[in-house]
Amino acid sequence: MRDVLVSENIVGEEMEALKRSFDVVFEPQLWEEQDALLRRVGEFRALVVRNQTKVDRELLAAGKKLQVIGRAGVGLDNVDVNAASERGVVVAWTPEQNSISVAELVIGMMLGLSRMIPTADRSTRSGGWERQKFTGTELFGKTLGIVGLGRIGFLVAMRARAFGMRIIAHDAFVSPDSFMISECGATLVSLDELLAQADVISVHVPKTPQTVLMFNDDRFARMKPDALFVNTSRGEVVDEDALIRALKDKRIGGAALDVRGIEPPEKSPLAEMENVILTPHIAAFTVEGQRRVVSSICRDVAAVLRGEGAKYYVNFPRPRSSAETTRGTL
Ligand code: MLT
Repeated sequence: MRDVLVSENIVGEEMEALKRSFDVVFEPQLWEEQDALLRRVGEFRALVVRNQTKVDRELLAAGKKLQVIGRAGVGLDNVDVNAASERGVVVAWTPEQNSISVAELVIGMMLGLSRMIPTADRSTRSGGWERQKFTGTELFGKTLGIVGLGRIGFLVAMRARAFGMRIIAHDAFVSPDSFMISECGATLVSLDELLAQADVISVHVPKTPQTVLMFNDDRFARMKPDALFVNTSRGEVVDEDALIRALKDKRIGGAALDVRGIEPPEKSPLAEMENVILTPHIAAFTVEGQRRVVSSICRDVAAVLRGEGAKYYVNFPRPRSSAETTRGTL
């Protein structure tokens, strides 16, 4: 039996420490070959992934010796947590370790769009000096609409407050009396109210059946004609064709997308549009964010393999026996 299979590019000091203590097989491209992954996973006690490895029911069934899935990140759309729980497999994750990095990219995108920084940069590099064309707008005094007021949405709100923005938020699971609401000074509103009032909309929802394609023609039509739309959550929550129509028809002012429905994306008209910023799912990718993510996930995987509990777990801290899972102790 082997210890740890790493099927994506997860590197850092703590990964080196994990390699010194356990038998770690590092195959950063393995996520691209599901069949090979299915053949290999059965030998290992732990599988460590980012967001590209499909940890579905079939893979979990093939991973007969698995005790823990280490998800180096926060989105769980690539991990079937129910199937893992049924098999008594711990799902460890990093729910807050990259949140600051994501929040900072959102602020960068808001400024990038409102001041047209990427377009002005391209124009100047190619010999232009178009000062009037690049007259932007301030964030000060504008309304920021946050869809999904979890950890990242909260951190974005706190930073936007420093810019003098008014914060409104829509989140079906947050109460108006919550600490987060009073701390970041947000007003909770319905989604329709948010779309109608926000000058900048930032999306922070997980991918679920309820959120897939939630930003469609109808929702873009409800936004202000100069609204700036920022998505650093999951690409699948946006109907990209609807977004392209909204941008072409000038029904919204601009968009910044770090995530796409298909990653890497196919060729898209979005790449030709001046009022669009596109980045390759890098919101969590900072030196500090990745250091926290990698050290946390490696420590938790090691803890489970040593028989101690994971600190950041989605279902339970230690593997469960089939008797425990069938008793319904999840
Ligand atoms: C996350 O879910 O943590 C980020 O989107 C980055 C990733 O998926 O690895």
